[in-house]
Amino acid sequence: QNNAPVTFTDAASGIVFNSWSIANGPQTKGGFTFGVALPSNALTTDATEFIGYLQCAANDKKGWCGVSLGGPMTNSLLIAAWPHAEDVYTSLRFVPGYDMPAVYTGDAKITQVSSTINSTHFTLIFRCQNCLKWNQAGSSGGASTKSGALVLGWVQASPSPGNPTCPDEITLEQHDNGMGIWGAVLDSKAANPSYSAWAATATKTVK
Ligand code: HEM
Repeated sequence: QNNAPVTFTDAASGIVFNSWSIANGPQTKGGFTFGVALPSNALTTDATEFIGYLQCAANDKKGWCGVSLGGPMTNSLLIAAWPHAEDVYTSLRFVPGYDMPAVYTGDAKITQVSSTINSTHFTLIFRCQNCLKWNQAGSSGGASTKSGALVLGWVQASPSPGNPTCPDEITLEQHDNGMGIWGAVLDSKAANPSYSAWAATATKTVK
């Protein structure tokens, strides 16, 4: 997995992302990519939100993936995402131990710019507001964008969640298609003067 970012522009939205990927291989079948776009001043002032890019493996449209915004699974804000029918669903979660994460009770919020699903992968571009600081049951933390790097975790799983159309009620098996923690270095392309305009296009809520 790269630590230095790869910058790319999403063709449909024009959003510029710093991204980090794991190729299809023994570490994770199908490969995995996560990217972020940040508010224009995020490299000097800690941002509270970002636009995320997730491309996850979903063979035959099955499976789920996740990102930990703090690195470890525990005591970090978690985003789980999965495809179902025409939509990509998400659930913000939090957990003190290595068990099924509970629904996150803070004010973080995901809205979507776009999603695509094909026979091998799904892709989601989403705005995550109030996602870079978290607090649940006395456990608080956060990620600092002005530090110039994020510590992030990833997981992928092959079976689909149970209750897939009801994000608060999903059931999951322990992930079975790879996991890891990486240092996601940000470069000057991560923050963009167009952030506010891009964020305003995240108007879709899937729940
Ligand atoms: C790691 C269990 C759901 C993110 C782990 C590990 C266990 C575990 C036991 C450590 C394995 C090892 O080090 O060998 C579970 C169970 C889950 C679950 C039982 C649900 C039933 C999730 C979800 C996410 C997630 C929903 C994110 C959305 C991670 C990440 C790691 C990890 C990023 C690697 C970093 C670390 O070791 O802390 N999980 N997990 N997990 N899990 Fe989960």
